Amino acid sequence: MDVMEAIRTRRSIRKFKNKPVEEEKLRAVLEAVRQAPSWANLQCWRFVVVKNPETRAKISDLSYVEAFFAPKGYKTNPAKKALAEAPVLIVACADPEQSGDLGEQHYYLADMGVASQNLMLAAHDQGLGTVFVGVFDEEKVRDLLGVPANIRIVGLFPLGYPEGDKKEGPSRKPLEEIVYEEKWK
Ligand SMILES: Cc1cc2nc3c(=O)[nH]c(=O)nc-3n(C[C@H](O)[C@H](O)[C@H](O)COP(=O)(O)O)c2cc1C
Repeated sequence: MDVMEAIRTRRSIRKFKNKPVEEEKLRAVLEAVRQAPSWANLQCWRFVVVKNPETRAKISDLSYVEAFFAPKGYKTNPAKKALAEAPVLIVACADPEQSGDLGEQHYYLADMGVASQNLMLAAHDQGLGTVFVGVFDEEKVRDLLGVPANIRIVGLFPLGYPEGDKKEGPSRKPLEEIVYEEKWK
């Protein structure tokens, strides 16, 4: 798939077929992540691939963070079911020490964003679907998976074959609203 086409047609997928992901496809997605650029090429990322259905179900239950969702009127994380249903769950972790800090800017988050986009585009290219799940109880997921205290868990990516018709994604701000010429505003 052409890169621009992949960027344009990728969507967050929250419904999955009951169909396993072939190892070669999973490998292709992980390889795309490995190729991502990072601060000083330090590659702060680590990924835990979870296939065990009970573990996926437990992580799914940890994706509703009441303090975050309740004030917004959400009764669940929109991706909660996806986390339990997709046959593969990639847990994206980072070692902040393996990235850069510039004042208050912590670039491990940028590294993880870059790698995550590679993950999502590669999944789409493989005919798979995923969604970046950023809201979850980090400490409880940490305990469940034995992730060390110095490692941050940045995102959860359920991965599988999309179920249902392809939907239009939510709209984007027009370029005029997000791009300034020469100076701010
Ligand atoms: C950092 C980040 C965190 C996100 N967290 C969640 C989440 O917890 N639950 C969810 O359902 N979607 C989550 N999303 C998906 C966004 O809602 C989605 O990307 C956005 O609405 C645009 O839709 P599209 O991906 O189909 O273009 C997250 C996306 C990003 C980039």
